[in-house]
Amino acid sequence: MSKLTDLRYASEIAALVRPTVRLALLRGGLDDDVFSEFLEPRTASEFAETRAVDRALAASWLRAAAAAGWLERHGNAYTSSPFVRWLLETEMGDAGRAMLEEAVLAYEPILGSYPARMKSQDRPAWNGDTAAAERVARGSRVIEGRALKALFRVPGVRQARRFMDIGCGEGVYLMRLLERHRDSLGDGVELDAGVAERARVHLARAGVQRRAEIHTGDFHALELPHGSYDLVLLNNNLYYFQDEEREPLFERILEHLSPKGVLAIQSPFVSDDPLSRWLGVTTMNASFDAFLRIHSDLAGLPEPDELNAQLQNAGFSSMGTVPIVPGGSVRFVWARKAGRG
Ligand SMILES: C[S@@+](CC[C@H](N)C(=O)[O-])C[C@H]1O[C@@H](n2cnc3c(N)ncnc32)[C@H](O)[C@@H]1O
Repeated sequence: MSKLTDLRYASEIAALVRPTVRLALLRGGLDDDVFSEFLEPRTASEFAETRAVDRALAASWLRAAAAAGWLERHGNAYTSSPFVRWLLETEMGDAGRAMLEEAVLAYEPILGSYPARMKSQDRPAWNGDTAAAERVARGSRVIEGRALKALFRVPGVRQARRFMDIGCGEGVYLMRLLERHRDSLGDGVELDAGVAERARVHLARAGVQRRAEIHTGDFHALELPHGSYDLVLLNNNLYYFQDEEREPLFERILEHLSPKGVLAIQSPFVSDDPLSRWLGVTTMNASFDAFLRIHSDLAGLPEPDELNAQLQNAGFSSMGTVPIVPGGSVRFVWARKAGRG
């Protein structure tokens, strides 16, 4: 190979190592609450003194964190960068942190050992890890603002007054829907007890708890009213249901919908269009699909044609989609009851 090729590939290695190192520095600083000490300017000596740590080590780490872009240097003092402040101080930042934790704690070990795991029938199970469930629910919130805007473009959602959110996570979609209309009512269904409790707290904080109930348990096992919901949501959880479970799931949802009710399914899709590739979502979603499939109790991301067929077989018609991310790599697939307009 030519020297030029070596040089090009060496720079590719550097381009891979750099984000790994940046991520490690970021996580270290977040996990040990270092960055919150730099909301006001502080020198390395001041930091070393309050933490009672070696000054040279502190100075070296701070310099590395500044080189990575997580701290800003002004003379001898450092402050956390605007991005780190966003992570520390905003709700969206918290969702971003959860996504980073998920990438490191869940995706990296699974994807890193994937080829070896493919040889074995012994698949890891996802179920039962409460810390992971909370991380995933927190992380899902990163797309919430866009998703809510898109949801109101789904036919029938603006008129809907009775909602059911299956796998409601922290209950934020339900909360926003209930905030919009004072005459609306909502039920959330959440498998994980800890996550369900966080949903109750969110609803109470928004003052809508009297019009909402969070049911802890499996949607399949709970008794909820038939024929009364104008909108049923399945947000980011279709992959908790195996392929063969999806048609029965949709049939069951259909029983709960009011005559003009609509089912809205939010999901990532693996799409290879230029815009999704350019946004980096193709890599994210394809890796997410692989991550899901290796688990014994999870299924892959839906294939659009298969999903439409499952909805149709269950008795839905007038299906459509509304993009959440440009290019539609994350979108709502909606479906209304057969023959009811
Ligand atoms: C990825 S989270 C998404 C949370 C929320 N819908 C969102 O988009 O922000 C999926 C949630 O679905 C819940 N879930 C999965 N299967 C369920 C089932 N059969 N019944 C009720 N909840 C379920 C999980 O516990 C988890 O909290």
